[in-house]
Amino acid sequence: MIDEQSIVADIGCDHGYLCIDLIKEKRAKKCYAMDVAQGPLNQARNTIQRYKVNVETILSDGLNKCPDDVDTVVIAGMGWMTIQSILENDFDKCKNYKKIILQPNRDVDDCRRWISNHGFTIIEESLVEDKKIYEIVAFNFMKHEPYEEKDIYFGPFLRKNKNKCFHKYYMQRLDKLNQVFPGCTKQEDSERIFKQIEMIRTEIE
Ligand SMILES: C[S@@+](CC[C@H](N)C(=O)[O-])C[C@H]1O[C@@H](n2cnc3c(N)ncnc32)[C@H](O)[C@@H]1O
Repeated sequence: MIDEQSIVADIGCDHGYLCIDLIKEKRAKKCYAMDVAQGPLNQARNTIQRYKVNVETILSDGLNKCPDDVDTVVIAGMGWMTIQSILENDFDKCKNYKKIILQPNRDVDDCRRWISNHGFTIIEESLVEDKKIYEIVAFNFMKHEPYEEKDIYFGPFLRKNKNKCFHKYYMQRLDKLNQVFPGCTKQEDSERIFKQIEMIRTEIE
């Protein structure tokens, strides 16, 4: 999802491998590895030195210290609530970016709902399998009509393409929901889960 010649900030870089790879593979022109915690940042710095790549490391809470030349932001491997607070804490700054790529660990539908409620545009999506399946959403600030509920739940592009990974991902989710469903004691929980089970069944049939 990183366009050629992009200038990328990896927010919450931890190990720093994303920036290292993007520079090594010449996928980005410049990368900033950023993290709120000194420990991960030191680790990233060591790894960057070991790989002899030119990546600047910056201690920053979210986008706070994000340099002005950045056009593409990646926020990956965190819960959606953390990602949401990072975006909302520097909302005006966000609007300068060409592309924001998100990989929330959970609640990806809430992430798409946030994009939809703000009238922003989902521009790319991907399901990536590496032991488990990760859902990745890229958006920009172009105006878009609110997305329909199925697009919010499954992702407009993922739903359209429905590749093998999509089926595997939702079969796994269906299994989990079917396990949880009998144990629901509150009516609102069982209704919510039942609705999801029905929606997934209809979508992958
Ligand atoms: C689980 S790691 C994810 C690492 C990497 N992005 C990945 O996907 O593999 C989460 C990282 O986000 C950092 N982080 C959490 N909140 C942050 C914030 N507000 N600003 C910057 N980094 C943050 C943590 O310190 C941690 O290093």
